[in-house]
Amino acid sequence: MLHDSQPTELKKKIYTQSLPEHVAIIMDGNGRWAQERRKPRVWGHKKGVESVRAVVKTAGEVGIKYLTLYAFSEENWGRPQSEVSGIMTLLDTFVVRERKELYENNVRLKTIGRIEKLPAKTRKLVQETTEYLKDNDGLTLTIALSYGGRTEISAACRMIAEKVKNHEINVDQIDSELFGQHLSTGSIPDPDLLIRTSGEQRISNFLLWQIAYSELWFSTVYWPDFRREHFLDAIQSYKNRKRRFGLVESVQAPI
Ligand code: IPE
Ligand code: IPE
Ligand code: MG
Repeated sequence: MLHDSQPTELKKKIYTQSLPEHVAIIMDGNGRWAQERRKPRVWGHKKGVESVRAVVKTAGEVGIKYLTLYAFSEENWGRPQSEVSGIMTLLDTFVVRERKELYENNVRLKTIGRIEKLPAKTRKLVQETTEYLKDNDGLTLTIALSYGGRTEISAACRMIAEKVKNHEINVDQIDSELFGQHLSTGSIPDPDLLIRTSGEQRISNFLLWQIAYSELWFSTVYWPDFRREHFLDAIQSYKNRKRRFGLVESVQAPI
């Protein structure tokens, strides 16, 4: 039994936990997948798009409400120009080719990150697809593009500081809820489950604030090989976990 003074919301989370509401994925290992096959790295990114398609479809089918994919980090701009433009071209193709199927699957699209840094053409195509899918109410697919968690947190600080300066809010109103509302994830709940593929076990500047209590799942599979069954394995593992959020699950009466 949970102690009576523990908030009902948390009790509900612990007892009713089954499917994660929000899954976030660090899609990693495209380059190594290609290099092992003696192909250029961009070939791995191209194959990775098939995994995106499979995972988005599966997530929608099993009833996940939010899926957030780390597609391109702020740091990734430092990669060779040919790789960066290869990724941007794949993104252009993805948002155009998948538009119809995403629509049919009732997927809504959102982006986080500094999309103003993307090439104009890519930005335009992404925005068109976002607009096209805006009335859907099934899975919310968020793609992190030119995203960095620290930049996002500093931007939220600046926004809040401005509001204080303009007397829109008082300093003592700043709490984690208000702070979270100023992040680009806005009203989206925090990820319940964070998956990283390729065997790396690090966060790489992804959703730093939002993953405070996420369950973590590291897979050794490279992203281009990560498909429905791997995704479902991660979901199954999540379902078997007990989330405590710092609370105690049972309070034993003293003997
Ligand atoms: C992840 O795969 C995709 C992006 C970062 C864009 P990588 O390109 O990082 O693949 P590895 O980690 O080098 O194998
Ligand atoms: C993280 O992968 C970024 C994305 C998956 C988009 P990286 O391959 O860029 O991260 P590091 O360099 O291994 O930390
Ligand atoms: Mg990598």
